[in-house]
Amino acid sequence: MEPILEGAVEVHSHLGPGDERSLADDVLDGLTRPFKELPAKHLYDARGSELFDAICEQPEYYPTRTERLILEACAEDVVARTGAVELVELGSGAATKTRVLLTAMAAAGTLDRYVPVDVSESTVLACAETLVGAYPGLRVHGLVGDFERHLGHLPRPTGPRLIAFLGGTVGNFPPGSRRRFLRGLAKVLGGDGHLLLGTDLVKDPAVIEAAYNDAAGITAQFNRNVLQVVNRELHADFDVGAFEHVAFFDRRRQWIEMRLRATELQHVRVADLGLGLDFSAREEIRTEISAKFTRKRLEGDLAAAGLELVELFTDPGDLFAVSLSRVRPR
Ligand code: AVJ
Repeated sequence: MEPILEGAVEVHSHLGPGDERSLADDVLDGLTRPFKELPAKHLYDARGSELFDAICEQPEYYPTRTERLILEACAEDVVARTGAVELVELGSGAATKTRVLLTAMAAAGTLDRYVPVDVSESTVLACAETLVGAYPGLRVHGLVGDFERHLGHLPRPTGPRLIAFLGGTVGNFPPGSRRRFLRGLAKVLGGDGHLLLGTDLVKDPAVIEAAYNDAAGITAQFNRNVLQVVNRELHADFDVGAFEHVAFFDRRRQWIEMRLRATELQHVRVADLGLGLDFSAREEIRTEISAKFTRKRLEGDLAAAGLELVELFTDPGDLFAVSLSRVRPR
């Protein structure tokens, strides 16, 4: 695909018109299983992204603000230890936390390039423009794509690379896929690169569960919105009001599960797929898992991916962690 070029900004899109296929495939696959399931990535259409931003403002949802505090405290240290000249950010979104890192790189005099990777082209373009204005001399190489599929399209590093994968999103992968994904990251890090990974920590289940069951009901709206996505994109007729939000901490697996529970028996048509779906009363769709970490779980995952922990930064309450790791020399 033709890159969009504008001065210090280039944006390459790897998403084609056929890319709603992935929703169709996931619906066909996930909603016809004995235990119905939809991948969490479909939660983030324009409305879902808005609702997620609102979740981050809820008093119960501690991860976003805690991670920001940790980043503010560790950014200088991270830049000094890594000597990073470029920042690759996966799921960059509005790139608000990114600025903390870019500012530290600029202050150290190493900042050369920012490489945001996001599925939303408008998001990548908007943040590229803003950041080029804010950091003189900064080059932006945006990649519009799915970080699960398009990391092969990252540009060649211009020097020591820092890959940031923040927010705790790595927790959305089931354990095996998580390790496979981290292994993929290790491959694009290069020998002198570092990974900066945000992970939510295991803690009192009541605190975790409250974060996914906010009193204002924003997380519930966010969860149900995925049915609107299916209705709109695949001409389905989900009665969104007939599904309730469920979120609980699975103590054995140490992850949060979000589900949508049918309040009554229902039949749903997915016109574009010629598919009929039956839900019994109280039947559930799993819409997200969000793993919580101990230091041990994190080190195990990193090791399985050929990475080693360099430093673990946490907040005073041990709510959240930002880890710095690198490819284990062999
Ligand atoms: C953006 C995936 C890290 O798992 O906490 C927030 C998404 N889901 N509330 C998370 C989310 C419900 C969030 N991540």
